[in-house]
Amino acid sequence: MLNLTPAFSLFGCQRAFFKELKCYKIFNIASTIKKIEKDEKVFQEVMDEVSSSEGVLWAFPLYYLLVSSQYKRFIELIWERGTAGVFKNKYTAVLSTSIHFFDHTAHNYMNAICDDLDMKYLGYFSAAMYDLMSRKGREKWTLFASEFFDGIQNRVPTAKKYSPILYHPLDYVPGSPGQKVSIQGKRVLILSDLKEPNNNLGRMIERFRNSFAEDVTVISLHQIDIKGGCLGCIQCGYDYQCAYGDQDEYVQFYKDHVNPADILIFAGTIQDRYLSSRWKMFFDRSFFNTHTPSLTGKQVGFILSGPLRQISNLRQILEAYTEWQQANLVDIITDEEEDSKVLDARLQHLAERVVHLAEKHYIKPKTFLSVGGMKIFRDDVWGKLRFPFQADHRFYKKHRVYDFPHRNYKARIMNAVLILLTKIPSMRKEIYRKRMKEEMLKPLQKIVQGEK
Ligand SMILES: Cc1cc2nc3c(=O)[nH]c(=O)nc-3n(C[C@H](O)[C@H](O)[C@H](O)COP(=O)(O)O)c2cc1C
Repeated sequence: MLNLTPAFSLFGCQRAFFKELKCYKIFNIASTIKKIEKDEKVFQEVMDEVSSSEGVLWAFPLYYLLVSSQYKRFIELIWERGTAGVFKNKYTAVLSTSIHFFDHTAHNYMNAICDDLDMKYLGYFSAAMYDLMSRKGREKWTLFASEFFDGIQNRVPTAKKYSPILYHPLDYVPGSPGQKVSIQGKRVLILSDLKEPNNNLGRMIERFRNSFAEDVTVISLHQIDIKGGCLGCIQCGYDYQCAYGDQDEYVQFYKDHVNPADILIFAGTIQDRYLSSRWKMFFDRSFFNTHTPSLTGKQVGFILSGPLRQISNLRQILEAYTEWQQANLVDIITDEEEDSKVLDARLQHLAERVVHLAEKHYIKPKTFLSVGGMKIFRDDVWGKLRFPFQADHRFYKKHRVYDFPHRNYKARIMNAVLILLTKIPSMRKEIYRKRMKEEMLKPLQKIVQGEK
């Protein structure tokens, strides 16, 4: 039996694809997560099906560089309820739909989860939203599926990509705070998913908060009434209005506390290679801002308890998130230090730096993470997504996110002339062999010499 656990129904059944299947079952995990969480019997039914299956296909739409918070909660439940063993040695594959914005981080995460569950991972299929519209797209998917079934049938060997995590945290004992840092009128918000203050995370937050001369706002996500995860209804696409409206406190909280903050500290405990599903819910629900950055100009720090050094994928997610949001990631501090004193010093330094950089309005130069990511949004909102995401379109137009085709007429004329010149063999030789590098450096030399 093949067991499918997607958050959405399987793409139209291909006959060739299903020929090899005796039977399959689909569980819509994300939309039924509250039931699965509340009713152990419903959860057990899923586990029983997994147990009697020969293969498991994890399927989901990409939400904020990962799976949705509802799906993440399901993954947490597997360990919380001690049922990880059910997945052991099951053949598995992963299917996602997305616009290819950080689909690789979601797939790295799922691959690692499959490895942690001791499953036999046979690969991933990352479909763009409309791939199935083309014959080629359907053929690719069918081929992937048949490879998956063949793999199961032939009991092919598989390899793990991720080693198990070994984490022996230090028992953090904070020292007395150093010199108090004045917040210089900046608004500081420390947001955490803390439930129990007497652990490393609680103590790190307390130590960090005590670094400041003035009071700063500390809020736990558990204090905020958040009714559920993002529904993916995209009602927000027209004018940033979330479908939850005032049914819960999320949007108002974001507007009252997150938007006005100059300095944002996100604090959390790493749980199965990401933060908690509560944190994921916070990120997913912020989608009411759709593809429009909502943290522009803010200084951001992360204070985490957990083995971040062993999860480079999570680091990349945090870096990409902050950079795409046009905020400045100052530092990520974890309790992986060997000595409480080192952790004290790092927390103190973070407090000093966030205020200093906020005063300087410093945003570090972008990297591929946001330069590349933003081009995906730009192209999609300009194209197919313009109608559903009209608010983004208005914002992108106003803020010149649409930077193509470029209007650099000087470059256009130069290109036309120089391309014509290179049609002449002697000129081509002269340009490519002798002049190219020198000419490319000339504008920069002028700047450097001008500054001397
Ligand atoms: C809250 C939210 C977050 C999203 N985050 C991402 C993302 O990080 N990367 C991406 O490529 N697509 C992202 N998307 C787009 C969805 O992945 C895409 O709409 C989905 O695959 C469509 O599948 P569906 O029709 O089954 O919902 C996001 C959509 C929503 C609603």
